[in-house]
Formats: sequence, structure tokens, C-alpha cells
Amino acid sequence: MEKWHLDYLQRILNARVYDVAIESPLELAEKLSARLGNRIWLKREDKQPVHSFKLRGAYNKMVHLSQAELDRGVVCASAGNHAQGVALSARQLGTQAVVVMPVTTPRLKLDAVRTLGAQVVLKGDSYSDAYSHALELEKRHQYVFVHPFDDPDVIAGQGTVGMEILRQHQHPLDAVFVAIGGGGLIAGVAAYIKAVRPEIKIIGVQTADSDAMIQSIKADEPVLLKDVGLFSDGTAVKKVGTETFRLTRELVDDFVTVDTDAICAAIKDAFEETRSILEPAGALGIAGMKQYIAQHGLEDKNLVAITCGANMNFDRLRFVAEQAEAGEGREALFAVTIPEERGSFKRLCQTIGQRNVTEFSYRISDEREAHVLVGLAISNRGEVPEINQSLSEQGFTALNLVDDDLSKEHLRYMVGGRSQLGENERLYRFEFPECPGALMRFLSRMHPNWNISLFHYRNSGADYGRILVGIEVPEEEVPAFRDFIDSLSYRYVDETRNPAYRLFLR
Ligand SMILES: Cc1ncc(COP(=O)(O)O)c(C=O)c1O
Repeated sequence: MEKWHLDYLQRILNARVYDVAIESPLELAEKLSARLGNRIWLKREDKQPVHSFKLRGAYNKMVHLSQAELDRGVVCASAGNHAQGVALSARQLGTQAVVVMPVTTPRLKLDAVRTLGAQVVLKGDSYSDAYSHALELEKRHQYVFVHPFDDPDVIAGQGTVGMEILRQHQHPLDAVFVAIGGGGLIAGVAAYIKAVRPEIKIIGVQTADSDAMIQSIKADEPVLLKDVGLFSDGTAVKKVGTETFRLTRELVDDFVTVDTDAICAAIKDAFEETRSILEPAGALGIAGMKQYIAQHGLEDKNLVAITCGANMNFDRLRFVAEQAEAGEGREALFAVTIPEERGSFKRLCQTIGQRNVTEFSYRISDEREAHVLVGLAISNRGEVPEINQSLSEQGFTALNLVDDDLSKEHLRYMVGGRSQLGENERLYRFEFPECPGALMRFLSRMHPNWNISLFHYRNSGADYGRILVGIEVPEEEVPAFRDFIDSLSYRYVDETRNPAYRLFLR
């Protein structure tokens, strides 16, 4: 082993992290293991006191400072988790911490840092802006700068995660999957594991739109990315460190990139397994591992994913839950064209049959054809051609939208609008207890005498299904129509006079 590598091994063995960090559990993920045909272990760094591994590196750096340095105070730049590590360590060591954070930092992380007693300065839109400002403060006030990743003591602190994994799992281990931002975690973990059990593969995981380490490895030097995707905010780094790059290039075996849908699916996997909610960066290890298993056909291996953070803003959960379905290939989305004639709506419903409907949107717009946006729950993508086939057998054309971001992110919320057609339209909101097949039962009870001119349903996971229906009812038939909807025994509200309806839909 080369001298520098031995030096890192010593630093990791001598690292001091347990004044603030716990030895996090390494847990067998039973459901995921059964599903993926490998034994999957989760290294639960999300269980740390500040819900990420970051306090290990920050504390190890700060505890090695001299008293004179601690008296000057420390400064750091961080989009969140490193800041919490620095703030907690400063409190433990009785020193002052100034934390520069981008103005875009999630509220949860901001509040956590303030609660730990650090002084927060909000500056710039990105980590890089905050970083430049922190360097200025370092000079101006003689603070000690605590780098989030490119520092041997920080790397050694993160390396204790690797040390624990090997202590906790003394049986054969095939690979460890590690999220990469600036590269501190993977550099530390790889430094330890490759020194002690070099046969274990270390695989780095990045998002496809924030892959500075992978680009740097290709270019054989750290490169500066112009822009990075911010969904996984914990790993959104435009340039990796010089030292973290060097270690990663020497020690890491392979890399994998994942997209947002795959991260959301991994957050769901972790939730189903542990009932904990990971932040996007925290779920990268699982997402990358799933992808790697599929790409390389791995079976019966022992694989570790480090679940490295759980500082998730609550208001992102809706997005994550929706995308998770797409990421797992559990929702199919189609634009189905049906003839605008009596009975074709019903025929479409019969074709869909017993499948669980996630979305059903329609607005009358053409006298000959109707376009219906249909979302269906599926168990895998293999079912999509099958559904397509049964729709075309009924004479319907179906456009598969499952990979169409425009449809998934925007159009599904916009279907509708004003129509020249839809004469004598009346508008109703209905509610019914949600259960599989409930929407189809509702649709099948709609009276064929009256034409449906607008329909909107989205399964939101609530206990009640909510539907908006526009129905063409000539004035003289209104009393008969009222008798009909009263007989349905669904709760409803007549929205025909709603001013927003008049403005946007009539
Ligand atoms: C939750 C989480 N995962 C991964 C990372 C990336 O760590 P590193 O910059 O050491 O690669 C971070 C960094 O802040 C993080 O907060």
C-alpha cells in the first residue's frame, strides 16, 4: 500500500467522531432484497443526530483545531447538511460558527442550523456563490474555514462510515454504493475499505444532471460544470475537490447515474423498508444500486447502500410520491382518441376494465373525436403494449405518454379549458369513497341520455375520490336530471354558477 493510502487509513482509525455521531446501524432490507434478488444492506446514516453523515467530517476537522484556532471561530459554506454538522460541532466544542448558505436553501435545513446556534448568512443562488462569500469572511475575520469535502480530516471523518460497515458486516461483501457530491464521503469510505478489504467494489452514484465527479474522471482532472440539477440538493456540486478527485480516481471501481424518477422510487423503497423518509441525496445509493443490479444482472450478492441523509422538506413529498410511481414504472399515461358518439365513453371504460385508474381527464373540443387523458396503475412497463393493443382492438388510438415530460409535468394539469361545444352544460363536483373500481362504477352509472362534455379525476391517495363532471342538459330536462343525480346517492355540489368555471371553462 502506498504511503498516502496508509496515511489515510491511520487518519480514519484515529478520527474522533463519536462525541457527536452515533455508530449507525447496518440493516438488512428484507423487502428490497427479496424484490431485487440480492441481499441489500442499508447503512443508516439518516439516523445520525442531524440526519446525515456530514457531522462526522465536520467534527473530526474541528476537534483537531488548536484552542487558538477555535477561539477565532469557524466559517463554512453549505447548502444544508454540512452546515448542520459544523453548527453541532461548534456547539459541542464551545466555538462560534458562521454558516453561509445559498438563498435557495430548503427552510428545514436553515431552521435546523439556526436552532443549533450558528449564525446564518444567506448569500447567492448556488453553493459556489456561498462558497466565495465564506472565503471572504474567512479573510476579513480570521475565521477558520471548514471545507465540506476537500480536506483530509473531513475525508477521514466520513471514512469512519466505511470502517463501521466492515466491522458490522464480517461476511463476504460485494459492493458498496455511495452518493457523490464533492466526493468527501466516497473518498473516505473507499480509502478505508480498499485498504482493508480491497476485493469489495466501491460504486459512486450521481444524478445525470449533476455528475461533476464522473465528468472529471473522464477528463482526468476536476472540471467545472456550468449548471447542475438541484433536485438532489445535497449533491449539487459544480466542481469536486482536488483531493477527493485524486482518491476517487485511484480507489473507486465504477460509477452509475440515475434520474429524478429513479431517486423518487428509491425514497419510496426506503420508506416501505424503514418508515423513514430520505432526502433525494440520501436515496442516491439505493437508486444507483437498483440501476447497477439491472445493468449488470447481479444476483445473490451482498450489497450495501449508504442512506446518507434525511433532511427532506415536507412540501416536496407530493412531487416525490407522484414521481415514484413513474420511476418504478407503476403508472402508464395515455392520450386516447375516441369517436365523439354515444356509448364510446362507456366502451373505453369497459376496455380499461378492472385496472386501477389514476387519472381520467376529458374536455369536449371536437364534434367528431374526443381526446381523453388516461392514467392507469400497472405493475411493470411490460403491460403498456398490452393495454395499447386492447385499446386499438376497440378502434381507439392511444398515444403512450409515459416518457413524455411535457405531459407528466404540465399537460395533465391543463387538460380542459373553454369549449365552443358543450351546449347547456351544467357542472357538478361529485365525491365518493375511494376504492379500486369506484371510478368505473361511477362512470357506468352515468345516464346515457345526457352527454358528458367535461370530466376530471385524479387519484390523489385521499379517502374520497373527487370528480368534476360537465353534462349537457337541455333546460326542460333539468328537473329529470336532478331526480337522476339525487338517485345516485353520491355527494355532489352544483358548480354551474361558479364564477371561476365561467372564467376558465365556459
Ligand atoms: C445527504 C447527502 N448525501 C451526499 C452528500 C455528498 O457528500 P460529498 O460532498 O462528501 O460527496 C451530501 C453532502 O452534503 C449530503 O448532504
